[in-house]
Amino acid sequence: MFNAIEKMNPAFRPFAAPAGDVMTFQMGLKGRPAEMNWADPFRPDDCIPEHVKQAVIDCLNTTGGHYTFPTGDNDLRVEVAKRAKKLYGLEIDGYKNVVISPGSDNLFAFTMRPFFTDGEASEVMMPMPSYAHNFVVPPLFGGISVGVPTYAEDGFDLRIEEFEKRVTPRTKMVVITNPNNPTGTVYSRETLQKLADFVIQHDLIMVVDQAFEDTVYDGSPMTNIATLPGMQERTIVFGSLSKGFAMCGFRVAYVIAPEEIARMLQSISVFFLGAPNTIAQAGALAALRNDGFIEEYRQEYMARAKAIAAMLDETPHVSYVMPQGGFFFWINTSWYGTDQEVVEYLVQEAGVLVSGGSMCADSDHIRLIFGALKDREACLNNVRKIVEALKRHPKNNA
Ligand SMILES: Cc1ncc(COP(=O)(O)O)c(C=O)c1O
Repeated sequence: MFNAIEKMNPAFRPFAAPAGDVMTFQMGLKGRPAEMNWADPFRPDDCIPEHVKQAVIDCLNTTGGHYTFPTGDNDLRVEVAKRAKKLYGLEIDGYKNVVISPGSDNLFAFTMRPFFTDGEASEVMMPMPSYAHNFVVPPLFGGISVGVPTYAEDGFDLRIEEFEKRVTPRTKMVVITNPNNPTGTVYSRETLQKLADFVIQHDLIMVVDQAFEDTVYDGSPMTNIATLPGMQERTIVFGSLSKGFAMCGFRVAYVIAPEEIARMLQSISVFFLGAPNTIAQAGALAALRNDGFIEEYRQEYMARAKAIAAMLDETPHVSYVMPQGGFFFWINTSWYGTDQEVVEYLVQEAGVLVSGGSMCADSDHIRLIFGALKDREACLNNVRKIVEALKRHPKNNA
């Protein structure tokens, strides 16, 4: 009998198995509970500025039905380069260093695979917990993920000695998310300098996903590791309009890389990414050229974070580290049970859906997205329901 699973590369076979996990539970719930689980700003409300909508309409009425280059619209690439210069002082050229992509999720495979050497199991190091792509993608392409622990007592900062313990002659790359999803950690310049020293000493490629770079709170300045001495030539940076610009549905992101790497990525972009959506790129260009609205979003997240921290401080048997960026709290709820148990309990008792930490390989935590909903009070009200549900949890009343 034909067995499709046997035809699959072994690394892909587990994905064909039915999984009784948190993710499956969440998928089965579509629509009913309030969704505080998607890293999709202001979901499900409309939040696209008028000038962006107008650019989309204008493109639709003119060139929207046609391809841009597979590497993306040239004006947009130039705008991305200007922004990197403005934010970080990074000296790059839109044509030589930038590729536009349809969202950044696909950039993990796109940028990692070319560095994996067949037959010798290339190792990729990533801090844990981190965004699932960092550790799920390498094994799909013949690599090995080497998780490096971080600790709540350090605010989930990087301990370079933990990297040193795990580096081998097969290590090819380090990948980090900065600010980190799910912990909200923004790595300081000092931490990144130590990581840069490690990466240079072991002659590695550095990949940094900065999807949340526009959502960094006051007092936690954002450093792009590519700007540290000796790093630009070996660093690949991702950025996205999904988070800080609240334009998830546009699916526009970009990769910035040194010239030789960018040339290779530009040449293979058509095979991995195809070309990004023309109409969406027109909206992205308008957003980057007139980006004042994102400061308002950042202020909103900071206000929400403060209000939620105050609520969590009143919640028994939970702990958290105050996020420095992003729009999520990574909450230790292990006293109440596994993440799956807590997620299910909160759906039943609070009518609110959060993510289980298992998606980041940590069943002691849940991740609460507080970027949901345009209206702050509506968002905070959902958090209140979570807090109240935990207060009346049977374990608190035993
Ligand atoms: C850390 C991180 N990187 C990348 C992405 C993907 O963003 P997009 O594909 O919308 O650019 C996400 C989405 O949640 C994310 O959390």
